[in-house]
Amino acid sequence: MQLSPPHAPHLVRGPITQERLATLVHGFYADVRADPLLGPVFEQALADRWEPHLERMVAFWSTVALGSKSFTGNVFGKHMALADVTPAHFAAWVRLWGEHTERLFHAEDARELQITAHGIARNLFQGYFGTRPTFAHRS
Ligand code: HEM
Ligand code: HEM
Repeated sequence: MQLSPPHAPHLVRGPITQERLATLVHGFYADVRADPLLGPVFEQALADRWEPHLERMVAFWSTVALGSKSFTGNVFGKHMALADVTPAHFAAWVRLWGEHTERLFHAEDARELQITAHGIARNLFQGYFGTRPTFAHRS
């Protein structure tokens, strides 16, 4: 018998909700941890603080996308304190973010989440390296 509606609608593509943002964050960071390039930077910074980090990231994205105002933090300063971040880390981060946002959200919403991440990526990239990326990049 076909079960309808699905028991876990936030696991399949749909509108931006708190639950679906939580699914996004948990799935994205599972891949970040498993990524040979990104994983070590995060393990070194977060060690036993993964749970609070994931909670903060759900709060961050729900503040951005739903206006929940549940996040305050120092995004730039925390990143500048990380050791050994290279342009390749950004390429990997942005690639995974594209995959996970497109898996869970409709094209227009995925695009909004990518544009927000790109704005932060620009800001952080400029902070680390003082220039634009040299890899394939528009304008
Ligand atoms: C490109 C877009 C990126 C966005 C939108 C982003 C966003 C964020 C945000 C919102 C936080 C939470 C800050 C806080 O807790 O106050 C964070 C933390 C962190 N990010 Fe990123 N980030 C990006 C790229 C990267 C990259 C490329 C790396 C390095 C591989 C990285 C490594 C980290 C780490 C390790 C933390 C935890 C810092 C700590 O709590 O000590 N991020 N990021
Ligand atoms: C100082 C840093 C950066 C500047 C000034 C910059 C600027 C731009 C501009 C002007 C565009 C075209 C318009 C737009 O879509 O916003 C663009 C597109 C793009 N950038 Fe960046 N960017 C920066 C860093 C990065 C980083 C670190 C990444 C990560 C890999 C990245 C990935 C992309 C991608 C994938 C696109 C194409 C977006 C699309 O599909 O339209 N950018 N960037």
